Formats: sequence, structure tokens, C-alpha cells
Amino acid sequence: MTKRDFIDTNTYTQEEIQFMIDLGIKLKESIKNGYYPQLLKNKTLGMVFEQSSTRTRTSAEAAMTELGGHAQYLAPGQIQLGGHESIEDTSQVLGRILDIIGARVDRHKTVAEVGKYAKVPVVNFMSDYNHPTQELGDIITMTEHLPAGKKLSDCKVVFVGDATQVCVSTMFMATKMGMNFVQFGPKGFQMKDDVVKIGLENAKRSGGSVTITEDVDEAMKDADFIYTDVWYGLYDAEMPKDERMKVFYPKYQVDAEMISKASDHVKFMHCLPATRGEEVTDEVLDSDYSVVWDEAENRKTAMRAIFVYLLNPELKYASQSVADQYDAEFELMLRNAPDARNND
Ligand code: CP
Repeated sequence: MTKRDFIDTNTYTQEEIQFMIDLGIKLKESIKNGYYPQLLKNKTLGMVFEQSSTRTRTSAEAAMTELGGHAQYLAPGQIQLGGHESIEDTSQVLGRILDIIGARVDRHKTVAEVGKYAKVPVVNFMSDYNHPTQELGDIITMTEHLPAGKKLSDCKVVFVGDATQVCVSTMFMATKMGMNFVQFGPKGFQMKDDVVKIGLENAKRSGGSVTITEDVDEAMKDADFIYTDVWYGLYDAEMPKDERMKVFYPKYQVDAEMISKASDHVKFMHCLPATRGEEVTDEVLDSDYSVVWDEAENRKTAMRAIFVYLLNPELKYASQSVADQYDAEFELMLRNAPDARNND
């Protein structure tokens, strides 16, 4: 059986993503009820980080621990990766020793290369192109906060500001799941044609849509979710921060006035870390319609689902016709898996 990576959600079907959403929610419920199925017993995750991280690192490590596995933090300078040993050679070695690898990298081609040469599943912990573990956590959060009577595919999600990799990832996931995606951002900081093309192809299959606008009223009309991210570019910022501020502030700051233009059930989202007072006001971030802390928690919900899915091929979703059988197998596995509490 060929191994599967989680580097780009566009290589996953809508049905597979839905399966992972459901798997994550089931595991979350199970663990909240005190039952920790040891589905990753004896499995080791290697976590390669070329950059700092709070949410991604801690959620991945905690997810492995809770499900019976273990995670190793492989910081810059602690392992060979593209130094005097090539990425190809390091990846082959890691694939012989570990069961699964996560990598946060400066450049997307690095995680793609790790995926190519490591013969175990590789998970993209964020690159300059996308952030798929964030995407899955966010769609789980949206699922948990759906407006009454609506499905994901009925919803409109508006990303405000710079076309960061989180903006692109939100667009990939939204269009995969049949949602209407809008970027409300200034010219020069809008999504590039190559990623929009992928979103439009997703939307054609799913029934969703992609819109880019500089008109706040058009963007916010009937919005179910408003999402933003930092304004300073994480990569290759073309202009100094103070000049970027002039482009974005005040028009693209998510404040109470902007929120008032959306639907009355709108939820505010942010991948965090946030720069309070820049892309979002305290009032919005700390409001009762802000779901940012649920999003942060759901980074772990997503990590559990991704690791269990990739390391338990028998759980893989094949088609709608066998979905019930897989669901039944998963339920059985949950019931029969050894519980950490029994090992005391
Ligand atoms: N959102 C996110 O990826 O956070 P970290 O950089 O803290 O992992």
C-alpha cells in the first residue's frame, strides 16, 4: 500500500475531509468523556520545525500522547536537514526510524521533498504556500458553530486582509467543502491567479464560489464567518511594516462596525497569534461571537484525526457505499482499544 501524506488538502476528496472532520469530533467527544483510545500506541511522530510555534507544536505533541504515541521535537540545528546531509538523505533516514513526520518549513518545496523521500506519512505543519492542519481545525470549528439550519455548503466565509498562506488555506478548504469564499483585501495583497485557479476548480466540483473584493459591504453581506490573520507578511515582505500598515489600516481592521455589516449570527475567527489593535480590535477578539479559542483547541482535534487517519489505513474512507462499514469498524476499534486508564 502506498503511504499517504497530508501536505495539501487539494489532494484529498471532499468525502475524505468530511471523514476526518467526523473522526476528529468523535475522538474529541471520547476524550472529553474520559476515554483515551490508544489508537497510536507505540507510534512516534518526528516534529521538524524551521520556525517557532505555539499551537502547532503543542497540539501535535499532545495529540500523540493522548492516543498512546510519542512525539520528538526536532529543532533547527538539532538534526541535519539540508545542511551537509541532503534533505533527501535525512528524509529517508527519518522514514526508517519514525512512524510519521510533521514539518514546519520556510519553503514549501522542503516539505514536499520530505514527503517524496520519507517512506512514512508526512504532515505539513505550515509552509509559505499553505497550512493544512490549521485548515482542518478551522473547518471543524466552523462545523461546531454552524448557524441554525445551515450546512457548511450553505455558508459564506470572508477572509479579511492579506493573502497569507492561512488565507489561501481557508480558501482551499472552503471551496473543497462547497462554501462561498470571499477575500476582502487590497490590490497587491490579494490571492494570486495560480491558487485562485485551484479554488475555482474545487468550487466547480463542490458548488462553492471564490470572490475577491475591495468593497466591504459586498464582502460582509450575509457572512457567516469572518476570518483574519496578521498584516505583516511572514515571508518575503515586499514593503516595511509601517508602509503595510498604511495599506491595511483602518479599512481592513476587523472591528465592531465591520462585524455589524455581516449576518447577525456571524462568528469571528483568527488562526492566532493575533496582533491586537492591528488586524483585529480587542472588542472583537474578546467578544462572545469570537471562536478563536475554540479554533486553537481544535488544532489538537485536527491533529488527532490526521494522525489516526494516516496511521490506521483500515480507517480510510473508500466510498459512500462502504462508509457505514468503516464507521462501524471505527466504533468497534474505539470500544476495544486499550484505555490508558487500564494500564495504571
Ligand atoms: N496558528 C499557528 O500555526 O500557530 P503557531 O505558529 O503557534 O503554531
